[in-house]
Amino acid sequence: MKALFFTEFGNSSVLKYGEVADPKISQSELLVKPDYIGLNFADIYRRRGNYHIEQHDPYINGYEAAGTVVEIGNQVKNWQVGDRVLFVDVPLANAELVAVPVDNAIKLPAKISTKLAATIGLQGLTADFLAHDLALNKSGDQVFIHGISGGVGQLLSQILTADGIQVSGSVSTETKQQLAMKQGADHVYLRKPGWQRGLKATFDTVFDGVGSTLQLSLKIAKRKGKVVFFGMAGGNPPRIDLLDVLGQSQTIATGDLWDYLTSAQERNQRSTRLFDYISRGVVQPSEPTIFPLSQGKRAHDFLESGQSMGKILLVPNENS
Ligand SMILES: NC(=O)c1ccc[n+]([C@@H]2O[C@H](COP(=O)([O-])OP(=O)(O)OC[C@H]3O[C@@H](n4cnc5c(N)ncnc54)[C@H](OP(=O)(O)O)[C@@H]3O)[C@@H](O)[C@H]2O)c1
Repeated sequence: MKALFFTEFGNSSVLKYGEVADPKISQSELLVKPDYIGLNFADIYRRRGNYHIEQHDPYINGYEAAGTVVEIGNQVKNWQVGDRVLFVDVPLANAELVAVPVDNAIKLPAKISTKLAATIGLQGLTADFLAHDLALNKSGDQVFIHGISGGVGQLLSQILTADGIQVSGSVSTETKQQLAMKQGADHVYLRKPGWQRGLKATFDTVFDGVGSTLQLSLKIAKRKGKVVFFGMAGGNPPRIDLLDVLGQSQTIATGDLWDYLTSAQERNQRSTRLFDYISRGVVQPSEPTIFPLSQGKRAHDFLESGQSMGKILLVPNENS
């Protein structure tokens, strides 16, 4: 099969596309042929050597895809060849075939296409646990999302708005500002010089997946407010003095999606809740940007450039 791979950590030029050995499935695995593979910020951290990655020679990035089951292990029950599937936590996904442990496979309802599933999968399940396990806001609360028009940001903003929460956020361009407003945000700040002057310590929760903004997040969270820190898209966070946090009775909550997807039951319950927002029409993801898998370097460069608005998908060449 063909795969996007690398043999040393570094910038996007380490990525290569070519022939590697097909995976062999165990008795409790499905062999899946991805239609769409999700590119995530964690794939950038992994390529740079800053994040856990499955040991493999060569390294094959990617943990998320949606596609079709083409072979089934002997002990697998309740799955058939031809079933459509999403997975968000299975390694070696940047390839034409992936061995998926059956507990990690999420069966797709008829109304969810493989393209939509890959568009909302990992980022949507992230937005769901950030909102419903970490932030736990109530109707009428005010929250702020840094990078509100990013992949996680867009879905989080729409989920919170549907839950009755007032959402504000920040963006780098006017196009992103318009998109965030269209998706229901109350107030979207354009990050031009001095923009922070308009912000007061009024937010019940500040969602920070940017990292370098952590000090600002604590400043604009109110007394007894919460900062949900979940990523470093803008660089590592500064060191925080916990005495300052204590002085404001604030909470810093953190979390990794994988700690919220530890069983088949959890994956199914959480994806059902996510798909329900889609079926009700209250979460409408923007169109993904699609690259052929063979053009993985271009896709990494695009994600790292900060130009993207929403999901980036890779398609194995024969589908592109
Ligand atoms: N904890 C978890 O389990 C988990 C799971 C998935 C993702 N994540 C994290 O979530 C974050 C977002 O991921 P994503 O897939 O949504 O990526 P994305 O689509 O690239 O979005 C990242 C956003 O960050 C904003 N940003 C970048 N640098 C910034 C800066 N210096 N100041 C303010 N905003 C900045 C960008 O918005 P502007 O263009 O407006 O600057 C961009 O829209 C990443 O840190 C990722 O690692 C965490």
